[in-house]
Amino acid sequence: MEYATEIGRDVGRAVDLLKKSELVAVPTQTVYGLAGNALDEEAIAKIFQVKNRPSFDPLITHIASIDWLETLCKDIPDEAYQVAQAFWPGPLTMTLPRKNHIPDILCSGLPAMAIRMPSHNLFRELLGLLCFPLAAPSANPFTYISPTSSQHVLDQLGGKIPYILDGGACEIGIESTIIHFEKGEVILLREGAIDQESLQKVLGKPLIIPKKNIKIAPGAHKKHYAPNKKVIIGDIAQLIPKFDQDDIGIISFQKQYVPDGRLPQEVLSPSGDLKEAAKNLFKALRTIDNASVSTILMEYVPNYGIGRAINERIRKAGEIE
Ligand code: TXA
Ligand code: MG
Repeated sequence: MEYATEIGRDVGRAVDLLKKSELVAVPTQTVYGLAGNALDEEAIAKIFQVKNRPSFDPLITHIASIDWLETLCKDIPDEAYQVAQAFWPGPLTMTLPRKNHIPDILCSGLPAMAIRMPSHNLFRELLGLLCFPLAAPSANPFTYISPTSSQHVLDQLGGKIPYILDGGACEIGIESTIIHFEKGEVILLREGAIDQESLQKVLGKPLIIPKKNIKIAPGAHKKHYAPNKKVIIGDIAQLIPKFDQDDIGIISFQKQYVPDGRLPQEVLSPSGDLKEAAKNLFKALRTIDNASVSTILMEYVPNYGIGRAINERIRKAGEIE
């Protein structure tokens, strides 16, 4: 079906559409999501179709209040309440054993479902008006860069969905952190907006960091968050002379490597602030991906706090020289 996609702030319109099994793109603090009724198989099937997402890659369910946990999940460990109390509403997702009434298609048949309570005002208002939770993966085609503005969503999903709820630019700019509980341990499935240090402080113990792709994290693809252009990661100053100067763009952390205007160049945070870098990362990737160059040169950011999550996105966007 082809839609004349509209952008607006009409929450009532979003409610009407969602009740009719339609999809609405929604703002969150992290990235824009592509939302549908999490308990409605028809809506969920549409999400997979619009995103071109393989059916083995499950969706995150977004809830309005903590009461929903008991409605959707079972065998909830105390630690889950502990982290929920500390980080919800906010950019933390937990995977928990799901109850029988949860559609298999939502969770790709896994015994656990991913769940989070988001903090964006407009999205919370929307969730509060609905009597069902919302499944919402990032609102980008599978493997491409996540959207951090309503315009990004329109550029990619225009014509495929009826409505984009516009909540401005996303405050954090990278996705939520995902944790999984198993046999008394807490496993980090995805680095994200909440850093390991903060989680460990609340848990009072170290997180388990899986060494390689594990079965419980079906979405941990090697290629992800990727632009169409070739991304090469390394020492930018050393890389620049190896390429045709008319054919490269640069995304750096803090330093400007060539004078302004000589080639497409994005500096993530001139002051060296990792939070600012996270907020600008996906926008910068899109900007250079749309420039007329074939290669993007990138460098890692300092590897602590949210920097780890940024580096994980950079690693998946490119290849190391
Ligand atoms: O910040 C976010 O989390 C954004 C906003 C829109 O909420 N959402 C998001 O969703 O990033 P998505 O679908 O792009 O990424 C969710 C990841 C996928 O890698 C998926 O495989 C994993 O979560 N996931 C979902 N359900 C899971 C489950 N039951 N067990 C393990 N991993 C799961
Ligand atoms: Mg995604």
